[in-house]
Amino acid sequence: MAEVEVLRDAAVLLDGNRIAWVGPRKGAPPSDRAVEIAGVLFPGFIDPHTHAVFGAPRLDDHERRALGVDYKAIAAAGGGILQSVRDVRSRSEADLVALTRARIAALLAHGSTTIEVKSGYGLELEAELKQLRVIKRLGGALPVTLIPTFLGAHEIPPEYRGNRAAYVQLVCEEMIPAVAREGLAVCCDVFCEPGVFTPAESRAILTAAQRHGLAGKLHADELEGSGGAELAAELGALSADHLASISDAGVRALAASATVAVLLPATMVFLGKRAQAPARRLIEAGAAVALATDYNPGTSPTVSLPLVMALGVSQLGMRHAEVVTAVTINAAAALGLAADRGQIAAGCMADLVVAGVEDWREVAYWLGANVVSAVWTAGSACPPLVPLLS
Ligand code: NIG
Ligand code: FE
Repeated sequence: MAEVEVLRDAAVLLDGNRIAWVGPRKGAPPSDRAVEIAGVLFPGFIDPHTHAVFGAPRLDDHERRALGVDYKAIAAAGGGILQSVRDVRSRSEADLVALTRARIAALLAHGSTTIEVKSGYGLELEAELKQLRVIKRLGGALPVTLIPTFLGAHEIPPEYRGNRAAYVQLVCEEMIPAVAREGLAVCCDVFCEPGVFTPAESRAILTAAQRHGLAGKLHADELEGSGGAELAAELGALSADHLASISDAGVRALAASATVAVLLPATMVFLGKRAQAPARRLIEAGAAVALATDYNPGTSPTVSLPLVMALGVSQLGMRHAEVVTAVTINAAAALGLAADRGQIAAGCMADLVVAGVEDWREVAYWLGANVVSAVWTAGSACPPLVPLLS
């Protein structure tokens, strides 16, 4: 992960939506159009974990935590995820499209050209489908690749609190088949955590999803360990995400598998927690580590992968080159796209980001400033984006 190749005075040739050639400017093949770049050109960043479809921000949760109430206590009192669920259920698809459009534009303006987006604030069939349709519509309307993930198992909805088995059954037997039938998701995720979904329930849901052609992902070992990393590896999931409470066996399981460890350092910082995932141990064991924003209204309201990269260095002990790998090729692998994007290499998707900096390491340094000055997706320059977050 620490081996990134840095070229100076380089040129990149695009052909349609693909990269055709990269190398020293002197040896570049002739081209009918040239664009000079001032700064550092990176592969488009890939954000493999967001919950970008939501209604209002959760400002009260934020302040309650400041006053000492824990994330799980807020959730148990009906705040947390369930507050966003009430909100999303009550909004129209058009309203959610308008809100999410601005949020995706903000992610793109910070260099994310491929973004995974989860449902999970509906927790009933129609509201889950509504969120997934929002993702589909915006993927078709904006110059960005959105990878939709069904997260119907984000929480047990209030109407099933007395009968969780019935909700798991609903997810497996009705929601997953409907989502697959309508072609609205590529992946399926579960919040596997004590107090949310057990490893046995997570296994049942991911197995049903895989039977319907959806790739597995898992919110694993976030706040308390429950063997989520081991389960993700055993099921051949694309990724196990969070991992602040991963066990030694979980580290070994990920290292021995193709499942990517997706780490979300902004989440722990925003929750005011000291714990962070053991990135160094994962990397040294041989696991593939990626980074993501976890963009969501409860635990990580940031649209900036460069901010997350800086936190990767300062909070997770990762090297600059490692955090670049973690938001490009490894993040692509967390979405099953490593053969298609995440590198500036011939044949890859022509998604490119310019950082207006002198030294490439500055992309993971200017904490919170937007260093991204230009973005190309599928070979075309993106118009300047004026993101409005509300
Ligand atoms: O990844 N951990 C579960 N899901 C989100 C939180 C979502 C929320 O609080 O709204 C996360 O942190
Ligand atoms: Fe998440």
